[in-house]
Order: sequence, then C-alpha cells, then structure tokens
Amino acid sequence: MICLGIESTAHTFGVGIVTDKGRVLANVLKPLVTKKGGIIPNEAAEHHIGVCSEAVEEALSAAKINVGAVNLISFSQGPGLGHCLRVGAMAARTLSLLHKIPLIGVNHCIGHLEIGKLLTEAKDPVLLYVSGANTQIIAFENGKYRVFGETLDIGIGNMLDVFGREIGFGFPAGPKIMELSAKGKKYVELPYVIKGMDVSFGGILTNVSEKYRSGKYSKADLCYSLQETVFAMLVEAAERAMAQCNKRELLLGGGVASNLRLQEMCRTMCSERGAEFYVPERQFLVDNGAMIGWLGILEYKKGKRTKIEGSWIKPYERTDDV
Ligand code: FE2
Repeated sequence: MICLGIESTAHTFGVGIVTDKGRVLANVLKPLVTKKGGIIPNEAAEHHIGVCSEAVEEALSAAKINVGAVNLISFSQGPGLGHCLRVGAMAARTLSLLHKIPLIGVNHCIGHLEIGKLLTEAKDPVLLYVSGANTQIIAFENGKYRVFGETLDIGIGNMLDVFGREIGFGFPAGPKIMELSAKGKKYVELPYVIKGMDVSFGGILTNVSEKYRSGKYSKADLCYSLQETVFAMLVEAAERAMAQCNKRELLLGGGVASNLRLQEMCRTMCSERGAEFYVPERQFLVDNGAMIGWLGILEYKKGKRTKIEGSWIKPYERTDDV
C-alpha cells in the first residue's frame, strides 16, 4: 500500500509518499520564505497554492511512481492556520476525486509522534513537540493520545521569533538565537514559569525584551539565558510526564527540536534517569508530508475513513480529542 500525504498547517507545503512497510519514498518540503518574519496566513496560503501541483509532481517523480500507484491520500486536517489547511485539504480532495483514491484526514501533532516512532527505535515514547505555534508533551496512554503538558499561551518557536525580531534577526530566529547563545557568558535571571506540566512563555518574552531595551545586557547573554531558561522548563515538564506515565523514552518533534542545546539537555536528562532519547533527522522534525502519509496508513489500517463531506478542516482540533 502506498500513501501520499499532504501537509499544509502553517508555512510549509509538504508532500510525502510512504509505503505501509514504513519506507519513505519521497518527502518534498516547500517552505514559505519571508524576509519580514512571521507568517501572514493569506500569504502562506497563496504560496501553498503556487507550489501545490509541483510539490505533488516532484514527490511522485522522487518516488518513481505515477499517481495510479497511490492507494491512499492523507492530509493534515488540523490543527493549524485555516487559510493554509484549506489548500492542503483542497489538493487532497481533488486528487482523491480525480483519481478515485480513498481519502483520510489526520491530526498533525500525532503525525510528529508517529513518524518519530517509525524512524527511530522509540516504541512508546513521550513526545516533546516544539514548533512555532505548538508546544505540547504528548503520549499514548490507556488507548488514547493524551496531552500531558502544553504552553498556556504562545508556542516556543513563536516566542523565539518575536524576541529575534526585537533584536534584529529575521525569520526563523531560532537558529540565529542558538548560534549567538554559544557566545553568551553570563546567565541573566529570567522568570521560570512552569505549572505542573504546563509552561508559559508570554511573561518571559516581555521580561527578556524589556531587559534588551534597557541596554544593560548583551544580545549574546540574553539569547543564552533565554534558551537555558525555556529549555529547562520544557525538559522539566517532559521529565515529569515520563515519570507520571512510567515511560522510558523521550522523542523530540517539531522545528525547534533541531536546536542542539535543547537536544543536549534532553539527552542529559534521559541519561540521568536511565531513559532513551530519540531525535529524527531534520526533514522529519519539521512539518512534512511523510508524517502525514505514515499516520494516514496507520489510521486507515485501523479502519478510519474520511468522506469528502467529512473532510472539512479542523483548525482548532485538540490532540486529546482524536
Ligand atoms: Fe508541526
């Protein structure tokens, strides 16, 4: 069985082709690149419309198949930006109707968890999912995907981007903050906001931005202190979730998971508690079509089907409602 998965929740339009044996035949990523920073939803949607058919064609040619060989079309049904989700859903419906291929809509966040399980040796991990809009700690427990902790306000990536814009970095700011933080020498005290397994970044963002505007601190020290603080919060929350669920594996997902300092802190925490730490390669950490294709196969095998009339987008779908 071959599934073509379409991802379009935010800035990336992705098309992945995956077999039911878990082989990724193609994973084409078409990210929106902006100079100004941030995502303007209708601009991102225009971008997705512009690249959608070439992304499908590139994926088919990378997989060395034609569309007739595809047995299932899967798409990100939510959560995400409505403007963007609509383009992926439209592309998926069109392919499904034109070529008479079954359709399935899946949850984007769970896609990150399942592709990580496919591509690493993780069997039953706690997922620390850290991206622009999303910051969640997810695990499969008692027959259901559950959110054990999450941000109470903005996603970690968005927070880093807003601070990056404040100090003159473009979008995405995360890689530049990581680079500059290596030059930071002095830890500047910032609020540390964790409530059980939930975290909050809004107050930290205000505090670090005010410190920057005061002119008393170097950019490098602030980047370093910001990373150390927010990553420590995430690692603490993830460790608490692992202890509560009695799970011995931690998996990273989402674009911010590419940050080497976050990976290092997760690795240290896992080794101290005798747990395993897994991180897939970057093309499968960021939003991608392969994870949507793979989750489509898993759910199809469990009997899920999506009719055209039930294929509306779900921008606010919660992981624990699936
Ligand atoms: Fe994502």
